[in-house]
Amino acid sequence: MDTAFYTFDLGRVRQRVGYLRQLLGAEVSLAYAVKANTFIIGGVLPYVERLEVCSPGEAAICEQLGVPPEKMVISGVYKTPGFIEASVLSTQGRIYTVESMTQFDLLRNLSDKYQKRLLLLLRLTNDSQFGINEEEIRRIIADRDKYPYLHILGIQFFSGTQKTSLKKLAREIRQLDGLLLALEEEYGYRAEELEYGTGFPVSYYDGESLDEEALITGFREVLEGMTRRPKITLELGRSIAACCGKYYTHVVDKKRNKGQNYLLVDGGMHQLVYFGQYMGMKHPILSVCGKETAPSTDSWNICGSLCSMNDILAKQVPLPEVGIGDTLCFENAGAYCMTEGMALFLSREIPAVYLITEDGSQVLVRAPFETARLNTPREAAR
Ligand SMILES: Cc1ncc(COP(=O)(O)O)c(C=O)c1O
Repeated sequence: MDTAFYTFDLGRVRQRVGYLRQLLGAEVSLAYAVKANTFIIGGVLPYVERLEVCSPGEAAICEQLGVPPEKMVISGVYKTPGFIEASVLSTQGRIYTVESMTQFDLLRNLSDKYQKRLLLLLRLTNDSQFGINEEEIRRIIADRDKYPYLHILGIQFFSGTQKTSLKKLAREIRQLDGLLLALEEEYGYRAEELEYGTGFPVSYYDGESLDEEALITGFREVLEGMTRRPKITLELGRSIAACCGKYYTHVVDKKRNKGQNYLLVDGGMHQLVYFGQYMGMKHPILSVCGKETAPSTDSWNICGSLCSMNDILAKQVPLPEVGIGDTLCFENAGAYCMTEGMALFLSREIPAVYLITEDGSQVLVRAPFETARLNTPREAAR
């Protein structure tokens, strides 16, 4: 291999979903947020009830992979009107979240125009640009008889990622439970569904301690304590996908500058973004391939090949004897790591992706992609 690359292990995804289901109980449904990693969609699909899809591009990927419409919830703060119209016309059974009153009007008008029944989840805001206010939800529910083609399934809520506090999760569920109760008592509306993004955390760095089992079983108890018991669907991205991915990058140079050891690798921060990492201050879980059990002999700053002093993957990491030609393997790279980087900066190659299938074979599903052409001016015909 002469460039950095990723591997995503589908067997690991299946095991991970099984583990989460075992902790959460059979009554809870799962929606995989495909923004975390679109390459594992085929591997996740048989094990979750739904996929959360947030852009026309993500929807196109799902369609190509044969995801049935009824397994998609079309979410996202801006839904391109043309995309939504085409979606309403050509597919039946998709669920749409309502993120604004503009979106609500769009969906309502389309449902009237084409006399198509649309399934909606009203997204409650978390005091950000996402979702709508409680008063707006109440208004829509109060007026629901005016919208003959809109079927309002219930509420959606997501307030953030890497949430480690059970107290915060419990507070949010209590508020949502209160809202569901109020909708029932005041408007006679009984929500069928609550779709909730838990933001369950992933432990990315050496020395972090996260009692995941306690957090998730504690959360299950919180759900069991709700007074309203609509169908609960949990939207999860990183908690499903992170553990299945590894990022491999090769040591291409080695030096000692002013008393500091540097390893230069052929990848970099444009290809590997860990939540909470800043200037390589934290140590992601990584190893030198083939030397996993060898003792550390020295500490290294691992830097990528961008022309930027920020391109540091980790600082002062103890490693065994390491040199040019060695491969470094970064763990937990299955969610967002690959897509949150500035892939077009410096017109470097986008790495290959391999899927590790259930029988253990490694299949190339994206060849390395040369980006210089994307940054080269030419007459562009649309
Ligand atoms: C609406 C929504 N649901 C679910 C997720 C997935 O979050 P996580 O990866 O923390 O599980 C996101 C992530 O941004 C989101 O925006």
